[in-house]
Amino acid sequence: MDRNLALEFVRITEAAALACARHMGRGNEKLADKAAVDAMRKAFDTVRIDGTVVIGEGERDEAPMLFIGEKVGRVTADAPKVDIALDPLEGTTICARGGENAISVIAVAENGNFLHAPDTYMDKIAVGPAAVGKIDIEAPAEDNIRAVAKALGKDVQDVTVIILDRPRHEKLISDVRKTGARIKLITDGDVSAAIATCRDVTGVDLLIGIGGAPEGVIAAAALRCVGGDMQGRLKFRNDEERKRAEKMGISQLDKVYGINELARGNVMFCATGVTDGSLLRGVRLSSGNRAYTHSIVMRSKTGTVRDIHAEHQLNFKSL
Ligand code: FBP
Repeated sequence: MDRNLALEFVRITEAAALACARHMGRGNEKLADKAAVDAMRKAFDTVRIDGTVVIGEGERDEAPMLFIGEKVGRVTADAPKVDIALDPLEGTTICARGGENAISVIAVAENGNFLHAPDTYMDKIAVGPAAVGKIDIEAPAEDNIRAVAKALGKDVQDVTVIILDRPRHEKLISDVRKTGARIKLITDGDVSAAIATCRDVTGVDLLIGIGGAPEGVIAAAALRCVGGDMQGRLKFRNDEERKRAEKMGISQLDKVYGINELARGNVMFCATGVTDGSLLRGVRLSSGNRAYTHSIVMRSKTGTVRDIHAEHQLNFKSL
């Protein structure tokens, strides 16, 4: 994949973020999501790729745009064939409430290199570069926390675990508290939470818990770029979800996926902040019809992480 593609993709997440940020705090999740989806879909037409959405807005019959299997990009004879995992607005509720860490995100890999995760849940564990190889999703939380503390050269009490605040995590939260580790409970957004484990400034060391499976693949792509580690195991709520997974080619339903099975080969990742967060600043709407965005662009091949701050003159954009 041409390295410059990564910089093309950031224009797409910027467009989606600019569109949905207008709906921040207005309490309308659907409208915010639709704005992001429409803008992202349109922006794809400007990038010369032969792209297939493999992680998207849902199945063809439930998502009008950016559905799984949809072809995107401006296809030319020499356009690279790529698979795309995307979430135009990761954290729809966050955006609708004006909370923290809503992002617009795209991950790209060569054909066939993302796990085709169904829209179900995934049990996840993720850490930054210093704790690679030290996590085991099948081990108790306590063992993982101790292993991560040792790898980071910290006391267990100084380890910060990030967990989605959900009733299903009641036991997990209690188990983590028993170890003495610190917890950061988040209302939504476990993609940025997984990335946070790899960025020193966030102070987050470990992500544990169950979130969306598509988000798991996107997070794995990001962590591949920054040298983190992650494991995931699909969690099904019913037989219908199991059947859907089998239809998508998943034969071992209880398999533990390593980071390189979730996102293989060379991957690119980019995200633009919609609302302020520990990783990215949100969209700022300024006078003179200008707006500011903050994005991150990364590639697994080189591990380069670019922070991109952009000033947009909205008069020239068809948002
Ligand atoms: P959406 O942007 O699709 O609303 O997802 C937000 C999110 O918090 C994800 O980050 C997370 O993986 C998932 O929802 C958790 O699902 P649930 O809200 O059902 O617990």
